[in-house]
Amino acid sequence: MFKPAFKPAIAVAVASFVVFSVAIAQQGSKSLSPDAAARAHSLYTQECALCHGDTGNGKSDLANAMKMQLPDFTDSKSLAAKSDSDLFNTIRNGKGQMPAESSDRAKDDALRNLIIYLRSLASQTPAAAPAAAPAAPAADQPAPAPPTPPQQ
Ligand code: HEC
Repeated sequence: MFKPAFKPAIAVAVASFVVFSVAIAQQGSKSLSPDAAARAHSLYTQECALCHGDTGNGKSDLANAMKMQLPDFTDSKSLAAKSDSDLFNTIRNGKGQMPAESSDRAKDDALRNLIIYLRSLASQTPAAAPAAAPAAPAADQPAPAPPTPPQQ
């Protein structure tokens, strides 16, 4: 016999599955509101472009003059292996010839948005086709079954 609570339990399970799937689908493609993107862009221009270049490709006059080896943010591979917290710490503390970005100049939130902005520099340029990537699952595949609701 089903208890009366069973149907709501299914609804909750399905709803949380949907929320969960959306959260997964959004991973790696965080985006900023137009306002936050504009602020991140101007912070980048003031604090970072001098070395990293306006487009983020690392080919600035200063980089050239100082013979700095800079990552190319327009290449999606450049930051792919780094987590947001790695990047946060590197930018906050500096690395090699890169000066630390103090919290007087950029608050934690501004830095987090700046990292989303940096990652977006790569998605604006067409990425090279990945070599021998496994075929993407067909779009018309049925969604996986929702998790079984807990029995009560
Ligand atoms: C004075 C020049 C300079 C400025 C200004 C500068 N960087 Fe850098 N940045 C560098 C150099 C040099 C490296 C390479 C460091 C290394 O690998 O030793 C680097 C590396 C990086 C990396 C890669 C870190 C990694 O883990 O490999 C990121 C991300 C980055 N910079 C972001 C920023 C951001 C964001 C700003 C502005 C807040 C900024 N940089 C300002 C010179 C600079």
